Amino acid sequence: MKLLNILLLQFGFSLVISLSSFLATANNPHEDFVHCLLRKSDNATAMSQIIYTPNNPNYSSILLFYTENLRFSLPNTPKPQVILTPVKDSQIQTAICCSKKHGLQMRIRSGGHDFEGSSYVSNVTFFILDMFNYRSVRVDPKTRTAWVGAGATLGETYYAINKTNSSLAFAAGYWPTVAIGGHVSGGGYGPLVRQYGLAADNVVDARMIDAKGRILDRKSMGEDVYWAVGGGMGGSYGVILTYKIALVDVSQKVTAFRLNKTLEQNATQLVYKWQFVAPKLPRDLILSLQLTSINSTQKGKKTIQATFISVYQGGAEQLLSIMLKQFPELGVTIDDCVRLNWLEYFPFHLALPINMTATFLQSRVPPVPKNYLKGKSDFAQKPIPIEGLEKLWKQFFKIDNPPGRMEWTPFGGRMDEIPSTEIPFPYRSGNIFILFQVIEWNGPGAQLQQQRLAWIRQLHSIIGQYVAKNPRRSYSDYRDLDLGVNNPNYTSIQVSRIWGAAYFDKNFDRLVKAKTEIDPRNYFNNEQSIPPAVNGRDRSWLS
Ligand SMILES: Cc1cc2nc3c(=O)[nH]c(=O)nc-3n(C[C@H](O)[C@H](O)[C@H](O)COP(=O)(O)OP(=O)(O)OC[C@H]3O[C@@H](n4cnc5c(N)ncnc54)[C@H](O)[C@@H]3O)c2cc1C
Ligand SMILES: *[C@@H]1O[C@H](CO)[C@@H](O)[C@H](O)[C@H]1NC(C)=O
Ligand SMILES: *[C@@H]1O[C@H](CO)[C@@H](O)[C@H](O)[C@H]1NC(C)=O
Ligand SMILES: *[C@@H]1O[C@H](CO)[C@@H](O)[C@H](O)[C@H]1NC(C)=O
Ligand SMILES: *[C@@H]1O[C@H](CO)[C@@H](O)[C@H](O)[C@H]1NC(C)=O
Ligand SMILES: *[C@@H]1O[C@H](CO)[C@@H](O)[C@H](O)[C@H]1NC(C)=O
Ligand SMILES: *[C@@H]1O[C@H](CO)[C@@H](O)[C@H](O)[C@H]1NC(C)=O
Ligand SMILES: *[C@@H]1O[C@H](CO)[C@@H](O)[C@H](O)[C@H]1NC(C)=O
Ligand SMILES: *[C@@H]1O[C@H](CO)[C@@H](O)[C@H](O)[C@H]1NC(C)=O
Ligand SMILES: *[C@@H]1O[C@H](CO)[C@@H](O)[C@H](O)[C@H]1NC(C)=O
Ligand SMILES: *[C@@H]1O[C@H](CO)[C@@H](O)[C@H](O)[C@H]1NC(C)=O
Repeated sequence: MKLLNILLLQFGFSLVISLSSFLATANNPHEDFVHCLLRKSDNATAMSQIIYTPNNPNYSSILLFYTENLRFSLPNTPKPQVILTPVKDSQIQTAICCSKKHGLQMRIRSGGHDFEGSSYVSNVTFFILDMFNYRSVRVDPKTRTAWVGAGATLGETYYAINKTNSSLAFAAGYWPTVAIGGHVSGGGYGPLVRQYGLAADNVVDARMIDAKGRILDRKSMGEDVYWAVGGGMGGSYGVILTYKIALVDVSQKVTAFRLNKTLEQNATQLVYKWQFVAPKLPRDLILSLQLTSINSTQKGKKTIQATFISVYQGGAEQLLSIMLKQFPELGVTIDDCVRLNWLEYFPFHLALPINMTATFLQSRVPPVPKNYLKGKSDFAQKPIPIEGLEKLWKQFFKIDNPPGRMEWTPFGGRMDEIPSTEIPFPYRSGNIFILFQVIEWNGPGAQLQQQRLAWIRQLHSIIGQYVAKNPRRSYSDYRDLDLGVNNPNYTSIQVSRIWGAAYFDKNFDRLVKAKTEIDPRNYFNNEQSIPPAVNGRDRSWLS
């Protein structure tokens, strides 16, 4: 079968038809699909260069490259029939057309960071549309906007913006290899969230291909669909090609610090107080909090390590005077403060060396090795009491190698001003911080996985006593299938509302409206995609 691919590249398309029909085993879905792609494309040679079937020697490496969660890299993980790596819009249109004809589900992948692998795993016959070639970043410093390809990473985007003007930035996430396609279409928060809101709050236009193969922009898709595409799980409505984003101002020099505190250093009191202070600080100052357990200096004992990480759009003296007034107990000193360029804060936040910032941003290999993982999220509306914190610590002491982690990011500032219906993400004023919870592990064993999953579910259940309920809230960019999944056989708003309300609360119904308008036959669907308001057989998109 390797021969097929070599011949395909050398002799093009007519030979393939005869050869592959010769080689084909009966009813192999990918063969029919591939024939259709080659037949319907305007340039079969170009098309043949972006098709990876399991016979292709590069299939596995392409599949794995953007598989960011090793939990979905196992031999029993369902694999795509085909991976397509389009370089132009017409190839995507052809893929939609042929997949309908041959009954393959499309999964769209940009950076592959989906916590549940939804961009590259499915329980039905599927192919991956891998968007990593859509990576251009076109910055227009005059209008302070940029058109960014879905497959561009956050790091590449930040790097390109800085190159045109280092006073301009995009308000988005921390992790450099996360891509625009998934990130922006689910919200997207980072160190500028208190000053400028979410990534999706800063979207001003989008280009997308819908289930009919039409290329649409903001104007032609209409305001409901455009609203949905900017944070309401973009992959429910079409293939996002590019987003146009608004750029924001950052200082030439910022000040940052990171401080570790263990229980012996009053971490419990400090974390308690943080909940009152951090959401109310000036908006150009963010003080985030990472929590994990470590071995104590006392032999055989564990402790909690609370890391307070801050970045301020101003000088060290001002930062110190704010901290002294608002949070003297933390004991920040001038020696803790580091002056940085804006982009250097990204490696700094992850405790990585800042002398490699350009590489850190531009590399498509994640800054730390991949792992097996499961994440969850919550939104706090009031501070967790001391006894609640102590229950969390006890849970953290139960697991090791590596321990669980949380990252608490304060809201407030700009987040309080944006109405909860402005974009699909609803959790604004009244939500003082987001609690990200994650457990990692480093091997494929089923028992290990079960133990780690049980731990984070337990943690989540303890947190449940102290956070927003009715609905229990979650962040759609931290996909969590424990919240519920669509019925795989029938479209049902009632079933989908269970997880849909957790992510979108009252905005869920408007998302359903947009979905019904743009994709009533539910071509774009996955475990947690917005359903159209037509109850019926799910695979009705098959032609
Ligand atoms: C290590 C790590 C760090 C993270 N850090 C942050 C952070 O700082 N802030 C934050 O807000 N979030 C963060 N996230 C969450 C991240 O924003 C989401 O997982 C995001 O969806 C990833 O986007 P992606 O394109 O890389 O992932 P993908 O897995 O490619 O996509 C995610 C989802 O979007 C869909 N999708 C992708 N591309 C398209 C497209 N072109 N058109 C339509 N649908 C598409 C996919 O089908 C899938 O459902 C982090 C995640 C990880 C794993
Ligand atoms: C078809 O694609 C190939 C490979 O990308 C390219 O070299 C060729 O010029 C294209 N042909 C036409 C007619 O555009
Ligand atoms: C395919 O794999 C070979 C060998 O691993 C490598 O040299 C080549 O660059 C790969 N091609 C693509 C398109 O990834
Ligand atoms: C897919 O199938 C596997 C194995 O049957 C099952 O464990 C898993 O829950 C299914 N996933 C979804 C989202 O239905
Ligand atoms: C860069 O952006 C800043 C902030 O918007 C602006 O004041 C400055 O004039 C810009 N510099 C250039 C060279 O365009
Ligand atoms: C904080 O703790 C982490 C992990 O234990 C360590 O790598 C880091 O150097 C510590 N930072 C400071 C400022 O002590
Ligand atoms: C911890 O806090 C208590 C009361 O707030 C204070 O008396 C004590 O000095 C603090 N200890 C340390 C190590 O900061
Ligand atoms: C902590 O100690 C335990 C044994 O007491 C050991 O297994 C574990 O690896 C240690 N963790 C770290 C991060 O050193
Ligand atoms: C970068 O900084 C690290 C320490 O943070 C140091 O070990 C390394 O040598 C530095 N590299 C360069 C190229 O300066
Ligand atoms: C950002 O731009 C500034 C000014 O041109 C430059 O000094 C800095 O090195 C750039 N940062 C990166 C990471 O390239
Ligand atoms: C969906 O249909 C399959 C096959 O008929 C069946 O095994 C499965 O139980 C159904 N799932 C649900 C949630 O109804």
